Amino acid sequence: MVGKSSSIKILGIETSCDESAAAIVENGNRILSNIVASQIDIHAQYGGIVPEIASRQHLLTIIPVLNKAMAEAKVTWQEITGIAVTFGPGLAGSLLVGVNTAKAIALAEQLPLAGVNHLEAHIYANWLKKEQPPQFPCLCLIVSGGHSDLVLMKNHGQFKKLGRTRDDAAGEAFDKAARILGLAYPGGPAIEEAAQYGTPSLLLPRAWLSGTHDFSFSGLKTALWHYAQRGGNLATASSVANAAASFQYAVVDVLVTKTIEAAKELEVKQILLSGGVAANKLLTQRFLNSSSLPVLVPPPHLCTDNAAMVAACGYHHFQAHKTNNYELDVVPDLTLG
Ligand code: KG4
Ligand code: ZN
Repeated sequence: MVGKSSSIKILGIETSCDESAAAIVENGNRILSNIVASQIDIHAQYGGIVPEIASRQHLLTIIPVLNKAMAEAKVTWQEITGIAVTFGPGLAGSLLVGVNTAKAIALAEQLPLAGVNHLEAHIYANWLKKEQPPQFPCLCLIVSGGHSDLVLMKNHGQFKKLGRTRDDAAGEAFDKAARILGLAYPGGPAIEEAAQYGTPSLLLPRAWLSGTHDFSFSGLKTALWHYAQRGGNLATASSVANAAASFQYAVVDVLVTKTIEAAKELEVKQILLSGGVAANKLLTQRFLNSSSLPVLVPPPHLCTDNAAMVAACGYHHFQAHKTNNYELDVVPDLTLG
């Protein structure tokens, strides 16, 4: 075990997409600080993330974010045990900022370094702030802007991918649907907000892909697009709210049904939700109402991108002596399991 005392403090760094984030986590589950500088306002005017702008913005914000994380946690570099950084998947230019910052600090402060898979880190948000750690084997649904993966986790560091999206990720589908409906970016929170004022009255298609644990959301998105094209269908605020509610309902229906089906088949002990879409209240409610197994879901701010989850994941890498040297490079198309 790496550690200067019984208190193991890991600095996590996350820059895979449009959030510059740094956090200090003690013993893999206690958050001492968790700073996230979001670029949402900058990218919202373009309706999506502009990679070149994202990496330049990370360069401007990463050092102030790091300083703030250290100050809020009231720690010195001598008290830090190791540095964990996301090295993929994500945008290459964005990942490079985090990885090079982590390498520079590790070298200067003589600290061990752990490269962390962003998808694995999302799962570890379920270890934060928990008195009881999750139980193995568990089934992990990772639903983010770039992924919709169903992964069996047998133990720390042991993952088997069971299913993935064949086209759009769940979060990506929310973002595109919001654009179709004339709602703001990012689409997930915008659709959830609009859906509050509507009912799921539109019958939209679900891709069940029976016999597999895969997902597909592009047909649903296209159906919504065709609906939006028909003159007058979205003329009123209540018709937009109904379309948003119907879309949200359809995505949630597929995610919940297929995940519970897989959990029964695999005889896991728990279901762990993670990723930005897990911040969706209807998704959480439906899971909690429909599953006979315990369903764990991090609080919304730990579902979306943050560095506390990276530090929690890094803690387990250090425990397993999985460290990287200064050759660590970014892997934009990294997968899990
Ligand atoms: O995990 P995340 O912050 O970043 C990635 O790793 O991609 O996920 C971002 C995605 C976006 O597509 C966003 O629209 C979606 O998560 N999202 C939501 C909600 N909050 C964020 N989707 C549905 N409901 C939400 N409340
Ligand atoms: Zn993410």
